[in-house]
Amino acid sequence: MSRRERQAVRGIGYGGDYNPEQWPESTWAEDIRLMAEAGVNLVTVGVFSWSRLQPAPSDLTAGWLDRALGLLADAGIGVDLATGTASPPPWLVAAHPEILPVTADGRRLALGSRQHYCPSVPAFRAAAVDLASRMARRYAGHPAVTMWHVSNEYGCHVPACYCELSAEAFRDWLRARYGELGRLNEAWGGAVWSQDYTSWDQVQPPRTTPTFPNPAQHLDFARFSSDELLACYRAEREAIAVHSPGTPVTTNFLSLFRPLDQFRWAAELDVVAVDSYPDPADAEAHLLSAMTCDLTRSVGGGRPWVLMEQAPNAVNWRPVNVPKAPGQYRALSLQAVARGGDAILSFQWRAAATGAEKFHSGMLPHAGTDSRVWREVVRLGADLGLLAPVAGCEVPAEVALLLDWESWWALEADSHPRRLRLIELLREFYRPLFEAGVTVDFAHPEGDLSGYRLVLVPALYLVSDAGADNVRRFAATGGTVLISFFSGIVDTSERIRLGGYPAPWRDLLGLRVEEFAPLPDGAVVRLDSVLEAGEADGSGRVWQDVIDLRGADPLLRYAEGHLAGQPAATSHPYGGGEAFYLGTLPDRATLRALLARACHRAGVAFRTDLPPGVEMVRRGGCLFVISHLDRPVEFELGGKSLDLLTSDIVGPAVALGPRGILVLTARD
Ligand code: GAL
Ligand code: ZN
Repeated sequence: MSRRERQAVRGIGYGGDYNPEQWPESTWAEDIRLMAEAGVNLVTVGVFSWSRLQPAPSDLTAGWLDRALGLLADAGIGVDLATGTASPPPWLVAAHPEILPVTADGRRLALGSRQHYCPSVPAFRAAAVDLASRMARRYAGHPAVTMWHVSNEYGCHVPACYCELSAEAFRDWLRARYGELGRLNEAWGGAVWSQDYTSWDQVQPPRTTPTFPNPAQHLDFARFSSDELLACYRAEREAIAVHSPGTPVTTNFLSLFRPLDQFRWAAELDVVAVDSYPDPADAEAHLLSAMTCDLTRSVGGGRPWVLMEQAPNAVNWRPVNVPKAPGQYRALSLQAVARGGDAILSFQWRAAATGAEKFHSGMLPHAGTDSRVWREVVRLGADLGLLAPVAGCEVPAEVALLLDWESWWALEADSHPRRLRLIELLREFYRPLFEAGVTVDFAHPEGDLSGYRLVLVPALYLVSDAGADNVRRFAATGGTVLISFFSGIVDTSERIRLGGYPAPWRDLLGLRVEEFAPLPDGAVVRLDSVLEAGEADGSGRVWQDVIDLRGADPLLRYAEGHLAGQPAATSHPYGGGEAFYLGTLPDRATLRALLARACHRAGVAFRTDLPPGVEMVRRGGCLFVISHLDRPVEFELGGKSLDLLTSDIVGPAVALGPRGILVLTARD
């Protein structure tokens, strides 16, 4: 978060989406009074307000917004003001029906919901930029406005459009990338399945085809679609900058969302923001939300970030919408602060009375203030007020998980040895580190790895030459790496790197993978462990590599099946560090033992004394200890410290109630 915004908000931001236009003005005074009661200091206004802001072309009917912003400014509540461009109003769609997006199988989506636009349609871009400029001109310098919020969750609902205008834009994008058609045919492997193009206008987006689409075409279309939405963001940001220079601009990401290359996007955001909706019915909701937090911090290069949306209680869009458990809203909110969040916002302030989201929770529920949710909202506001000292502080991490959206797109395409889901794999690697109190960054393969001790490379199927060199250089200069199966397989055109897998890292790993032997869903293969005593034998799932050792030592061997006796995991000394390889997905205990060993080798503290479900993260001078358990828990912390939330001295033994939280700092 920029200095300017921190000045405006001071401490940790707290609030949510505020949609005053959905309510009679007579309720606004109550909103403001209750916001003050809850400690709200930052609200997002106007996200879906286009039809109320501009009921006709060229006309900004914003008297209602002037009055609402005035009330907020008077109350000292900052506003993250939306440009309002996420849902084109009916009049615009009527005038330009081509705005409605088209699916891969040629269906044009209808008006009547939201985010119904094709990013490549000039009429949409022009109208969005026009509204953003009008908003920026009118509200630049407004005392309430601390930040601009462009559109909303780009790519949500409609990550890509396949209409004719999108096809033209895709061709332009390809021309810029390849220059000549011959290079495109080469990159896309045109000789396979008779796909050589002889003229640019023959090239199409990957619409529904008889069988698997061309994977390189598919990959380029994913790159294009992310860039095309980014161009929409950039156009609005530039329009804002003309009138309101210096005020930070953001848009909200969806967590672990495949369509947008967040590393590319985050570079263009003054403040990185994310929406996080883990399912309370998932016993590991806190694990996924921690990954979201770490990812958001990481794509922003470690900058403090904003939790732009979460649900104070249940959402309305799953088949079954389980409420958050008592204390869960608080625990997940403080988790976000612990992992670098400087503002904690919810969707939305007041639960709606009409429309598609009326059963989505709000900070102020339908039941009013005599409710569990409201009491939790007030309590969280008080807690966040006490955490002002951590605002702006960094979250140190010694371990990086490599993640590249291009590889993710390519990995999850069809026609592979096996279906793999990156989020599921990341979760496997992230879990034991989370449980051991190891803070993890996500890093781009071409990013600066020099600050890390251990780099994990889970199923990085596609890697550029620069990324491959970067990992090798990290290991050569003493870093420890752990690379999993199906990494380093193809280049950026999805062309196999030949000669035995993973071609760029065979020397580093001291092995050659001769072929793949994936396991069917649900199948397990027993493993013999060569790990130290206490590191249990286990089993492998999902995948088996056929490994030919070329200097590496086996750590695990397959104990049954065709590969019995052959290595399943290895280690290899390299450049002062060590390179581990995993040819299968071990069961949880075995993977934990391997990661503990890698951490130990890298000099990263790997705690084994934390009860499962208790999170420990350091931010600035504070140690956050967060129980995600719905029962009490006791354990040893070592030493005495001051809890910022209660001002009590705690330790060395600590007893936490259900979802109890400590924010510990040195005693003065
Ligand atoms: C988000 C969206 C919000 C709201 C929320 C409900 O995807 O940005 O406007 O719809 O979901 O959970
Ligand atoms: Zn389109």
